[in-house]
Amino acid sequence: MKIIGTGRVHPSQVVTNDMLEKFLDTNDEWIKTRTGIAERRVISSERLEDLAAEASLKAIEDAGLTPADIDYIICSNVVNEYITPSLSCIIQGAIGARCACIDVNAACSGFIYALDMADDRLKSGKAKNILVVAAEEPTRMVDWSDRSLCVLFGDGAGAVVVTQGEGLLCSRLTTQSKVDCLHYVRTLEPTPYITKVENSAPMYMNGKEVFKTAVLSSSRDIKTLLSRAGLKPSDIKYYILHQANMRIIEAIANWLKLDMSYFPHNVDYCGNTSSASIPLLLDELAREGKLQKGDKILMSAFGAGFTTGACIIEWTK
Ligand code: UT7
Repeated sequence: MKIIGTGRVHPSQVVTNDMLEKFLDTNDEWIKTRTGIAERRVISSERLEDLAAEASLKAIEDAGLTPADIDYIICSNVVNEYITPSLSCIIQGAIGARCACIDVNAACSGFIYALDMADDRLKSGKAKNILVVAAEEPTRMVDWSDRSLCVLFGDGAGAVVVTQGEGLLCSRLTTQSKVDCLHYVRTLEPTPYITKVENSAPMYMNGKEVFKTAVLSSSRDIKTLLSRAGLKPSDIKYYILHQANMRIIEAIANWLKLDMSYFPHNVDYCGNTSSASIPLLLDELAREGKLQKGDKILMSAFGAGFTTGACIIEWTK
């Protein structure tokens, strides 16, 4: 596959660290030092499906196509207001496409899983132009009186259009069941027959455990992919890593012995936008003219599961 169009939409509400200080026992210094985040964009009046549809239309336009040209939609999403139908179905209706649709939930690694699925579908010849959109509102999963979690997240939607081509050099997906480490549980409707105890609770995360696992697993994925592609670290133009925490990004940069110019970031002004973080950043770089034909880009993500997804692409636009 190769990427032929990108798009993104952020919610309009900006929430700075100073704004959080008004109702939480926190401060700008703690948040910036521990995470690198200065502000985030948070859903207020918008609906996630509308942001996703707008990002999708931008990517389709950028690809020089119309929604009628899209013959498969994969949406990476953890939560939205609908349990069913899938968010991809709602996006299909909103943009006026006519094609099969599916959602994928691999938490923050979801965009890479979705790209990998798109590549398989293109290789099988079952689709020609696939819309891959990652739309996330993790701010709706956390308790906003819990300073250890709500300061970390932001919302947004990023999309790409992919078609047949030689842009994906290699990819690697891993999953290791570690439910205790990071989860969000919601109860379902009661029935007259339910006898088990069920609990609904906001997101739980063991931050230190996730931090360690993230650095180790992302570094391992990067090393594996570089060796598989026969590349050295400096052959990559940009490492577009999942934007969870600047300290994680810096730890990986140190490990690779590369300076931070290889590691563009948006976590400082977007927060952790789950699986949307990589396509949001990719679109920003593309629209700022920072990607040239032939550039090699390594994308690497990690998230609840514990899942990881990484790939090296060549920019072909
Ligand atoms: O996409 C999902 C992947 N998630 C991640 O990548 C998150 C990975 N983990 C992390 O980024 C870090 O573990 C955190 C940023 C979440 C936390 O940083 P930490 O250095 O592990 O801090 P901590 O949880 O050990 O907390 C240290 C102190 C505690 O106080 P005491 O017990 O030492 O008195 C916390 O209560 O900082 C306190 N604290 C805060 N203080 C001010 C926790 N949150 C805050 C806050 N403001 N917002």
